[in-house]
Amino acid sequence: MATTVKGLKGVIQVPGDKSISHRSVMFGAIAEGTTTISGFLPGDDCLSTISCFQKLGVDIQMVNEETVIVKGRGIKGLKEPVDILDVGNSGTTIRLIMGILANTLHHHTLIGDESIAKRPMKRVTGPLREMGINLDGRQDANFTPLVIRGGKAKGIQYHSPVASAQVKSAVLLAGLQAEGTTSVTEPEKSRDHTERMLEAFGVQVKEDGLTVSIEGGQTLKGTHVEVPGDISSAAFFLVAGSIVPNSRIELKKIGINPTRTGILDALKKMGAAINTIAANREAAEPFADLVVETSSLKGTEIGGDLIPRLIDEIPIIALAATQAEGTTVIKDAAELKVKETNRIDTVVNELTKMGANIEATEDGMVIHGGTRLHGAQVNSYGDHRIGMMLAVASCIAEGETVIENRDAVSVSYPQFFNHLDLLKS
Ligand code: S3P
Repeated sequence: MATTVKGLKGVIQVPGDKSISHRSVMFGAIAEGTTTISGFLPGDDCLSTISCFQKLGVDIQMVNEETVIVKGRGIKGLKEPVDILDVGNSGTTIRLIMGILANTLHHHTLIGDESIAKRPMKRVTGPLREMGINLDGRQDANFTPLVIRGGKAKGIQYHSPVASAQVKSAVLLAGLQAEGTTSVTEPEKSRDHTERMLEAFGVQVKEDGLTVSIEGGQTLKGTHVEVPGDISSAAFFLVAGSIVPNSRIELKKIGINPTRTGILDALKKMGAAINTIAANREAAEPFADLVVETSSLKGTEIGGDLIPRLIDEIPIIALAATQAEGTTVIKDAAELKVKETNRIDTVVNELTKMGANIEATEDGMVIHGGTRLHGAQVNSYGDHRIGMMLAVASCIAEGETVIENRDAVSVSYPQFFNHLDLLKS
């Protein structure tokens, strides 16, 4: 990618939220009646979810790239698939689908790509087994290929050792058809899209502090889902607009669910100039138009219950920190090691190649700011968020940057490079 950019200017509509898009197809599939989805993210991960549910007998039509119609089969109506279910690169698909398939007595084999094969699944298969569900897989059901035979779930009170919306959602989805009440208590609050969307489909979900519970035997009714722009995708432009000189970027209709806005809190604390120019806070998933302008950043400390609210944004925050004055410490983020790549290692290694002063720690990283980055040959290692972070880094690097495996961005943001180019012109 070309050498230093003179400024990023323009208006961008980032694609739909990945977490919400997955759930809209999944919940639509097990609802009674039809669900229409607008603003759907046509990224590889969400297309994997569509393909899995089509194999489970669900009629899913893409009217256009962002409008999807799902003809629900009801919670007991999924068919036994004649083929394996391939989730591609998508952790959300494999973890949530296990909760949905838990109460069928069908046979399912779940696989994914090389990255999925390394990601821990015991965090979901463990509690599902406790509920009485038959599951198996490599290393005692910790790794794919996984086989799920289902069963008749009994409600459990599950205390999750990690703040993970994927774990919480899988257990709650299994709980939908379980005997009695199922609850999940987390160490910190993770994103709550499942809770909000189940309510929109007519399911009662109770929240009490860090505990969410659901009564078994409830059914979902098809509805309309409007997916806002993904704040995790917007994050790349929030940082790009902050660190590339002479920039002003307007981002339209970005989801601002409070369980996802840690990036706004962190960047504002670092001194970023981000303003909300219009907002709808009453929607099931609130959204707003955001404007970012170039500013001087300062180092900060990020940890504790802020981490689940910005876990996917840490790679791009690390880049912002290389340009900040002073040191940034990111801690309590060991979960980064089990994302699409080990994101502590990939962020540290790739940014080091570009001249950053950054060290890995056991549960995060320390970044000494104020460094000038230079072009280098770097690699996304197939991780979409690493690819996008490196592309933003290339905008401020002196000299040419080559990003290997840059196509990985299609997992969550197929038009990312086009949008970045539009802002440069
Ligand atoms: C997601 C939850 C998060 C996040 C992932 C999407 C979801 O993972 O990192 O990109 O849609 O539920 P964990 O729940 O494992 O933290």
